[in-house]
Amino acid sequence: METAPTTKPPALDPAADSRPGDPCIMVLFGCGGDLTKRLLMPAIYNLVCDGLLPEQFAIIGADRSDMTTEDFRARLSDEKDGIKKYNTRKDFNPKVWAWITSRLHYVNTAPADGYTKVAELVKKLDAQYQARDNVLFYYAVPPSVFGAISAKLYENGFKEGKGWRRIIVEKPFGTDLPSAQKLNKEILSFWNEEQIYRVDHYLGKETVQNVLAFRFANEMFEPLWNKKHIDHVQLTVSEAVDVEGRGYYDEAGVLRDMIQNHMFQMLTYIAMEPPISFSADDIRNEKAKVLKAIRLYSPEAVLRNTVRGQYGAGKKADGTTSIAYREDPAVIESRKKRKPPVETPSTTETFAALRLYVDNWRWEGVPFYLRSGKALWKRGTDIVVQFKKAPWVLFRNTAVAKLNADRLIFHIQPEQSIELLFQAKTPGPVMQLQPVNMAFRYGESFTASRGTGYEVMIYSCMVGEATLFSRTDLVERAWEIAQPIMDAWAANPAKDFPNYAAGTWGPKAAYDLIEMDNRRRWYEIITSETLQRVPLFKGGDPLFLSQVSMALRPEAVSPSEVIVKKGDPGNEMYLLARGEAEVLDGNGQVKATLHEGDCFGEVALLLSEPRIATVRAKTACDLFVLEKGDFSRILRDHQQFAETIKQIARERYNRAVAPEQLMAPT
Ligand code: BG6
Repeated sequence: METAPTTKPPALDPAADSRPGDPCIMVLFGCGGDLTKRLLMPAIYNLVCDGLLPEQFAIIGADRSDMTTEDFRARLSDEKDGIKKYNTRKDFNPKVWAWITSRLHYVNTAPADGYTKVAELVKKLDAQYQARDNVLFYYAVPPSVFGAISAKLYENGFKEGKGWRRIIVEKPFGTDLPSAQKLNKEILSFWNEEQIYRVDHYLGKETVQNVLAFRFANEMFEPLWNKKHIDHVQLTVSEAVDVEGRGYYDEAGVLRDMIQNHMFQMLTYIAMEPPISFSADDIRNEKAKVLKAIRLYSPEAVLRNTVRGQYGAGKKADGTTSIAYREDPAVIESRKKRKPPVETPSTTETFAALRLYVDNWRWEGVPFYLRSGKALWKRGTDIVVQFKKAPWVLFRNTAVAKLNADRLIFHIQPEQSIELLFQAKTPGPVMQLQPVNMAFRYGESFTASRGTGYEVMIYSCMVGEATLFSRTDLVERAWEIAQPIMDAWAANPAKDFPNYAAGTWGPKAAYDLIEMDNRRRWYEIITSETLQRVPLFKGGDPLFLSQVSMALRPEAVSPSEVIVKKGDPGNEMYLLARGEAEVLDGNGQVKATLHEGDCFGEVALLLSEPRIATVRAKTACDLFVLEKGDFSRILRDHQQFAETIKQIARERYNRAVAPEQLMAPT
């Protein structure tokens, strides 16, 4: 037997009050895939740095390709496509990686004796590292082989042992309700529920976990957390990336890929009752109750409460072009490979928006709006809890024309913060209000290094803590909610695909879905950085940008829709975020074309006179709208903005604006 390199893991920033995980040998099936190099190895690396990996530990990579341990180590250490690229810490420490690679081994499971070799190596490494016969199996493989791998492990003596056996499985946990039930049955015929750790990597995100801490460690919000005070909740997972050559996405679509799992999990955190303890089952029992209370839709209700989208060609957020989803060679290829092959254009949704209801005492009648999509204008996951508006009536004799609703926003990623938006009085003798915010930013309060989300998953499994993992009943119930939606969509294939251009806010129908409910609106998170890219706001000071970002509201417009009409009163100014619009003269002739970054509608606001021209959308347009009250307030407070607007009025319409007009009461 080799002598044990009983070196301690080189913990660089040991986490306070945490013990390392239990000794174990980790067997990683599917180790040749992307997940291992992109996420799992960086997570292992972070666990070592944080002092959370035990000294008694080794990894066996198992896959069906003919590789040696040396090849496996070299692959993960690759200069261009290995740990140096995927590691999430600021500095890469070769000592940490050397410690890990010395404990990396590989077994090819393709030959008939592949699993016997796995068993022999586990035994050997267990003795070498004194891992107490604990084995953690990571199934980074398609679910279709879960059963076969489990059976082989059984045959090779892994059913029982002195130590524990735990299995981490990756999504998808089925592709619909029957397949999920079948999969659960299969896996439960080998292992007990307590041994199975089903990863939903969203639950590993610090900001998601903090939703529970925020709700239950603070007395302040819980009394308001119900239908009496909350108007609605919005959950958005917006991805800027397109399908990126992942042809297999075509058999999933966003409902299966993001909503049924990650988004439903986040929803349960927002909606659940306080658990009686933070133990895994107490929390999961409460989550199960939320899912059980979600209304199941009839086919008609599905069509009323959901919207689907598929992206067409466009310009992605990073400026590069994206071909239409259905023209992506990977998508076409994957359809040809199906049995039987499919030649027709894809009708898979790359965007979806849903209105759901949690039919219980706390949430009766409160809509939960969920939306997610690929190839959208930006990356961002946010949960917005919108409170009801305070009664305006007592402001009736003041300059306050309306009250805005307060909002609590959990910024999950890439921004990591919690923000409360509320109304404050603007300085001065008159009672005027302005939306302001209070924010807690992770980066300002904590120094923790950013991880992959998998650290906590692997660690939790090592210590037998299942809170962050899904359970059979949760998985099946989530499919029960999604199934009627999938069925109704399959029975009514979308006829308007592609219905949004890559790089935009998504299909207009998603805006209509929310606006038909008391004209609620999606809350688009606009950062100062986003605003800086717009010529009108470029170089604005932080105070100005923060005021503008809180005041802008988004609006999606269809091609040829009239946005402002000559002669109408002007109550808003517009900023063209995406698309093209045309300025028409009295005869309907196009006088000018407006492009991304252009603004319009400001003259009527400035001069308090009717619209001087009609503006019509030439293509689908995404607009930011600034209402008159906010416009005037910002003009008053920010001289530089006022100057820019005056200049635009002069150049575009040959109109001079007198200083007193800028100060006109709203
Ligand atoms: C995965 C989906 O589960 O989550 C991907 O399969 C998606 O399609 C990814 O891109 C998003 O994860 P994150 O952590 O980048 O938001």
